[in-house]
Order: sequence, then C-alpha cells, then structure tokens
Amino acid sequence: MSKRTVLTGITTTGRPHLGNYVGAIKPAIDASHRHDVQSFYFLADYHALIKCRDPQTVQQSTLEIAATWLALGLDTDEAIFYRQSDIPEISELTWLLTCVTAKGLMNRSHAYKAAVQDNAEAGEDPDSAIDMGLFSYPILMAADILMFNANDVPVGRDQEQHLEMTRVIAQRFNHFFGEHFVLPEAVMDDEVAVLPGRDGRKMSKSYNNTIPLWLPEKQLRKAIMKIVTNSLEPGEPKQTEGSALYAIYSAFANAEQRAEMKQAFADGIAWGAAKQQCFELINSEIADARLIYEDLVADPARIESCLQQGAVRAREVAGPLIRQLREAVGIRPLVK
Ligand code: TRP
Repeated sequence: MSKRTVLTGITTTGRPHLGNYVGAIKPAIDASHRHDVQSFYFLADYHALIKCRDPQTVQQSTLEIAATWLALGLDTDEAIFYRQSDIPEISELTWLLTCVTAKGLMNRSHAYKAAVQDNAEAGEDPDSAIDMGLFSYPILMAADILMFNANDVPVGRDQEQHLEMTRVIAQRFNHFFGEHFVLPEAVMDDEVAVLPGRDGRKMSKSYNNTIPLWLPEKQLRKAIMKIVTNSLEPGEPKQTEGSALYAIYSAFANAEQRAEMKQAFADGIAWGAAKQQCFELINSEIADARLIYEDLVADPARIESCLQQGAVRAREVAGPLIRQLREAVGIRPLVK
C-alpha cells in the first residue's frame, strides 16, 4: 500500500509568533519525522501576493519562515519542503481548475464575503478594492493540494471551507476528465492550543497582540512581562481560567509543570514571578533553535539550496501529473 500524503502550506507574510509555533509549526515539525506518511510542506508565496504588495516583505518573510522551520528541526530528508513559486506546475494547474470552478462557489467564500460586507458597511461599491487574487484564492489553494493528491491537510478551522471547496473542484474535474484527483480531508486538531495573545484575545497579527518567536532573550522577557493580568496582589489566590498568562505557560509546560503552576496560582504567586517562570520555560525551549535560526538567516544561500532540493523532489511528483492532466483536457501534441 502506498503511503498517505500529508500536505500543508504557510503563507509567507509576517513574522512567526508564539501562536504559530504552538498551533502549527511545532505539531507539523513533530509530524515531519513520520515514516508512515509522505509529507509536503511549502512556503505559499503566491498566496502572500494576495495580502502584500511589498516585494521586500514577501522575500524577507519567506527567508524568516524557511529559517524558522529548518531551525526548529523540520526533517527535510523525510518531508518535502519547497517554495510554491518554484513549482510552475502549480500555476498551470490553477488555470485548469479555474476553468471548472463555478463562480457561484467562489461567491460563497468567507474571505470574499467578509470583504464585500466591509464594503457594504462603509457604503462603498460591493467589490471596491477586491482583486481577483482574493476572489480566486481558493482555486490556488486547491491546486496546491491536488497537485500532490494530498489525503490529509492539517489546517486551522478558518481553512475548513477551503478544503470543502477543494473537494468540490476536484470532483468536478474528475467528472469531466476522469478520476485524476483524490478528495482531500482537512485535519483539524482540537487538542492543539489556540494561544491567547498579550491582551487575552487569540494571538494574531490582526490583533497586534503577538509575541514574536525569535525575539532576543531580553526582549522576549519584556514581551512576556507585558501579558495582561489583573491587579491581584502577591498572596491573593489567582484564577487560572481566563488567564492569558496561564494559557501561554501551559502551552509550553508538561503536565507536572502545569499542575505546579496551577497550585502556585491558588497559593497567590505574584504576577511578576509567574511571568518570570513563563519566560524561563519558553526561553529554555527555543534558545538552542534561536542560535541556529540566527545562523540560517545570516546565510540565505543555505536556505535557498535546501528549497531548490525540495523543488526538485516536488516536481518529480508534479511533473508527471500535470502531463497527465494536459493530456486529459486535450492540451497535447497534434501528432503522437
Ligand atoms: N491558506 C492557508 C493559510 O492561510 C495557507 C495555504 C496555502 C495552505 N495553500 C495551502 C494550507 C494548501 C494548506 C494547504 O493558512
């Protein structure tokens, strides 16, 4: 039996933060060592263009995210790690899929509908400032997934609709042109912590409440000291429920450490002391990787070469499939 294929993409905008680390990066890196699946991880730089028109930011973010995954120990012997834009077959497949995707399906996309809604509220034309990139985004994502006939796609809840759309598009293509695609499943792990940010809401770039993963030690400590708590004095018992500090600590702690911190809260630990422990715990987990990260960022050629090797492996899969698809739709030589 052939191995199941697991695939996930990371949009290259922004700096990795602790929420990304706990919710996505760490579980994916742990999974990259599995022998029983073939995993694909890629830097979704075409997706980045939908959100970002600053070339320097796109490039820098690609560098930082690649360095992050490598520094944290992504197993690039097992997993295939590549940059989306190095696989021209993906853009070709995007067009083949675009031609079988109902516009009405795209009209239902949450991201597009939210943008239309914002326009309505602002009294603007419904499609004001909405590009085709945003509108067609789910088709590009479908191409990412179908290009490698992925079975399982680990994603956050916010991406569930994109997986449903991918299945609809794949089925439609199969219906017209034969069984070329397997239907992928979203894999959403409810066990994985959704980390709160400094202000207690979900840690997210859009809330401006993130703690970047690779802050120098002193700045990391400072950022953790700024996690919002309440005005309870040392000695007063504190609640763990609803505490962003406790949730962040817990995401890095083992069961024993968690139980100890819970007890410390009940015993009235001072906020400053709890934050110091939180800093020490997080720092001890990432300090070694931080050194590797810094070396890698200073040596982009090493990252580039790693990505090129990944691209070769990815294209070994994408090339034959795109040839088969071209043939299936009738894009083929006039004589054999
Ligand atoms: N859209 C995903 C996100 O914003 C990133 C992504 C792009 C992706 N292509 C993908 C994830 C394919 C899984 C599979 O998180």
